[in-house]
Amino acid sequence: MKNIVLIGFMGVGKGSIAREVVKYSDYIAIDTDDLIESMENKKIKKIFEENGEDYFRKLEKHVAKWLEKSVHDTLVSTGGGFYKRENLQKIGTIVLLDSPFDAIIKRIKKHPNAARKLKKRPLLNDLKEAKKLYEERRPQYLKLAEIVIDVTDKSAQECAKELLKKV
Ligand code: S3P
Repeated sequence: MKNIVLIGFMGVGKGSIAREVVKYSDYIAIDTDDLIESMENKKIKKIFEENGEDYFRKLEKHVAKWLEKSVHDTLVSTGGGFYKRENLQKIGTIVLLDSPFDAIIKRIKKHPNAARKLKKRPLLNDLKEAKKLYEERRPQYLKLAEIVIDVTDKSAQECAKELLKKV
């Protein structure tokens, strides 16, 4: 099976959908943020605070190279800025989880751990800035995506099933 690379904005539900995909398929799921946190033995928030965003992007680059060489039959869930890695297409089929900005924020705020979900993402601290980032990124996400799934008002299970049908 060719790898799947899940891209999309922070909070769109990449992690939850990945967990559903593995229930209904033989894919193994990995997450680029989790890989980085275990490489550094530090939370993403701490890496941003102590080492800065540029350092974090370098780690993403390193992970992207490793993924290209080393993984197969894998669903790779990525951080919202990982789409910038030049070798993304070489890692697998790119699937965009798409939703309007306001729907994404609404989705996060509905979560029982909403405060933690917002806090752990340094680039979501300022919602005005985050919206700008969303508007800047969305056209690029769409350009890269081979498959687009509109996740708005759908459960993670529904999205996972749609993904597996389309891939
Ligand atoms: C980022 C998204 C985060 C994480 C980091 C930077 C981004 O991942 O990689 O905080 O640039 O959009 P999620 O998309 O899983 O929140």
